[in-house]
Amino acid sequence: MEAKKIRSTFIEFFQSKQHQFVPSSPIVVKNDPTLMFTNAGMNQFKDAFLGNEQAKYARVANSQKCLRVSGKHNDLEEVGVDTYHHTMFEMLGNWSFGDYFKKEAIEWAWELLTEVYQLPKDRLYVSVFEGDQDDNLQMDQEAYDFWKKIVPEDRIIMGTKKDNFWEMGDTGPCGPCSEIHIDLRSEEERKQVAGKDLVNNDHPQVIEIWNLVFMQYNRLSDGSLKELPAKHVDTGMGFERLVRAIQHKSSNYDTDLFMPFISFLEGKSGKKYGQDEQTDIAFRVIVDHIRAISFTIADGQLPSNNKAGYVIRRILRRAVRYGYTFLDFQEPFLYELSPLISTNFGEIFPEVKQQQEFIAKVIQEEETSFLRTLDKGLKMLDQIKADLRAQNETVISGKTAFELYDTYGFPLDLTSLIAREGGFSLDEKGFAFEMEKQKNRSRAASESETGDWVSVHDDEGVDFIGYDFTEAYSHIIKYRVVKDKKGDKYQLVLDKTPFYAESGGQVGDTGYLISESEKIRVVDTKKENDLIVHFVEKLPTDPSLRFSAEVDKGKRSLTMNNHTATHLLQSALKQV
Ligand code: SER
Repeated sequence: MEAKKIRSTFIEFFQSKQHQFVPSSPIVVKNDPTLMFTNAGMNQFKDAFLGNEQAKYARVANSQKCLRVSGKHNDLEEVGVDTYHHTMFEMLGNWSFGDYFKKEAIEWAWELLTEVYQLPKDRLYVSVFEGDQDDNLQMDQEAYDFWKKIVPEDRIIMGTKKDNFWEMGDTGPCGPCSEIHIDLRSEEERKQVAGKDLVNNDHPQVIEIWNLVFMQYNRLSDGSLKELPAKHVDTGMGFERLVRAIQHKSSNYDTDLFMPFISFLEGKSGKKYGQDEQTDIAFRVIVDHIRAISFTIADGQLPSNNKAGYVIRRILRRAVRYGYTFLDFQEPFLYELSPLISTNFGEIFPEVKQQQEFIAKVIQEEETSFLRTLDKGLKMLDQIKADLRAQNETVISGKTAFELYDTYGFPLDLTSLIAREGGFSLDEKGFAFEMEKQKNRSRAASESETGDWVSVHDDEGVDFIGYDFTEAYSHIIKYRVVKDKKGDKYQLVLDKTPFYAESGGQVGDTGYLISESEKIRVVDTKKENDLIVHFVEKLPTDPSLRFSAEVDKGKRSLTMNNHTATHLLQSALKQV
């Protein structure tokens, strides 16, 4: 069965059980300060679980784009080295919001895997939460009893809180879970060691494929558990692993999800996949990373120098470097994989198809700029390693790693990886120290020196009249000078002002201060400690004079609002 068919079969199976298909939420998270990327299918349903929001449908099925490269769930170092971790992966899920619970979740999971996908029952194991004293939680007897009806008891494994109690983070919705594992080893290997003993032991052929979470608690910040107002189901199946199991492959990368990409790289490099371990890692890194890069760009995250953008840049540079060193790609190559992303994933995730050209362009530009310095950086690193070897040293200093980062754009994990390949380690603390030093330097450089307020007239209080007028006859109460690298800037406060100060997304007004002899530009207006501060190009020659303050009318975004309406209404009432 092809991957596309496996995915649609999942959705159709749950549709036949009254589930509504919903599209994946974006892989880039914009409204949660604790999360940069979607790392689990349940992220978008958090509020529905907590009871803060009414779920739109009681039953939902989806395929969620997830990325696990930062934070609590972090797989980046494993990716490409092994055959079953990914940066970006799809999580197939079925969801119940206060509707069905353990019985149906368990029965349907088993039906789909064994009857629809026809995975052999004697290769599957399931696990049940054994309970936890600290949290005062009993064993999940209910789940055990449902499993017992369909699975021989010797295939049910009891699991600890670590594996069988799912939590999104330190706080939030959580609950006991049942995982389904599959043993993909050969018959011979299976005879020698029981699969049951290898579950949850990092065996590359005995892997978890599906996690059924029974959401019933909210973990509060004091560590305690509170019952949720309703009980829910959150299941997550690793799509790439499922495809591998159904297609009888020993690696996720041997499936039709990745092989078209590997074939392309084989053709381009003239090297074959499966012949050399180092080259194979490079193939896997690239075909994994191109997905993460393309999907995040499609969802609006461009590579950059901080936060989520830097995560993407790091992933991209890791891929470029592997291609450069092990597949001899000296020119940009990643972007050429974009059409394959579009044809292979465009149906289920239309955004990668719609934005194919844009994605390719962004990737190509990033590659071009990194390749410009990669060669020099690698040569420098070779020289450093040779020098260290000559001195019998094995640690690359933080200063060197920082120089590579600063001058050649080498992310720390890339330098660390190259160091390890040569049997060296890296002084990460020293790197962090250098980084901090640089931050302090640039902070100092951008710092400005704010002078004291100079009083011109007594502070009689500031009158904002901008809701009703765009002009006023005013005088300056006080002013000050702000010096920074770019020169002097001036701020002043007026006794009466029609200028609206920037706030709540509305930009500050601009305009002029006009006296008989001068016309001074007001470039911005901002609120500071309840004062309306005007940013002007220069100080008036005589600040004690009166000025006509005029707002640029054409550009003004402030229109009549409730304040003006109330004011007008009150005057009207007074007249009555
Ligand atoms: N939330 C669970 C997980 O991410 C199941 O979807 O594994």
